[in-house]
Amino acid sequence: MLKGKTVIVTGGSRGIGRAVCEAFAEAGANVALIYAGNEDAANAVVNTLREEGVRASAYRCPVQDYSAVDGTVTKIIEDFGGVDILVNNAGINRDKLLISMKEQDFDDVIAVDLKGAYNLMRRVSPVLVRKRSGKIINISSIAGLDGNAGQTNYSAAKAGLIGLTKSAAKELASRNICVNAIAPGFIETDMTVGLEEAAKAVPLGRMGRPEEVAALAVFLAGADYITGEVIRIDGGL
Ligand code: NAI
Repeated sequence: MLKGKTVIVTGGSRGIGRAVCEAFAEAGANVALIYAGNEDAANAVVNTLREEGVRASAYRCPVQDYSAVDGTVTKIIEDFGGVDILVNNAGINRDKLLISMKEQDFDDVIAVDLKGAYNLMRRVSPVLVRKRSGKIINISSIAGLDGNAGQTNYSAAKAGLIGLTKSAAKELASRNICVNAIAPGFIETDMTVGLEEAAKAVPLGRMGRPEEVAALAVFLAGADYITGEVIRIDGGL
């Protein structure tokens, strides 16, 4: 079903984003990977994807910068001939208790995790609207649903992403575009190094794997009658 489609994945150079790129390539989709800084890691992912026989390229782009996103998506459309699916996965955290959080910690997380997703959605949506089809998948977090001490900035951004998802789903439904969010719990990546102790609270008794989140993203990319949803993937938390 995804064969020959083009997916843009932000933050595709490692962690969940990398697994998402690999799962889409395995399903036959061409992959445009956006990354922040690590060119070697991004190129390594691209080489793995090409082994699946799909087209793949990496683009360095700070998602928080609209003009950079605009230029990058234009280039992706030139290179791939279009875009069908967008996965907003790029994210950062700057965890601190509210009483010691710096303004910059708040602004940076909102800029990347929330405005970054808006930037991509704003640029890609008109392209999907013209085609009368498309899927947008936003990687939120259970922190955006439940809150989490030490993550007021991150929770606010991830809750904002859920609002963005639900409103965009309502706006774009008449154009046959589905917009959904995934809310992962503890997933084994660089972001959760050191959280192994916290993960002991997970009813299923382990952290999740990036591939498990990726499989859900691929499922949503093929689901034509689910929109405006937030799907938790958290081992029962
Ligand atoms: P990670 O830190 O391993 O990877 C983040 C990716 O985002 C990297 O590829 C990085 O290059 C990219 N990125 C960061 N800032 C960027 C920017 N300004 N512009 C473009 N790309 C940028 O993180 P991980 O764990 O793979 O997380 C991926 C997403 O899943 C994030 O949005 C995160 O908030 C979310 N998430 C992760 C959970 C976990 O337990 N690991 C749980 C819930 C949500």
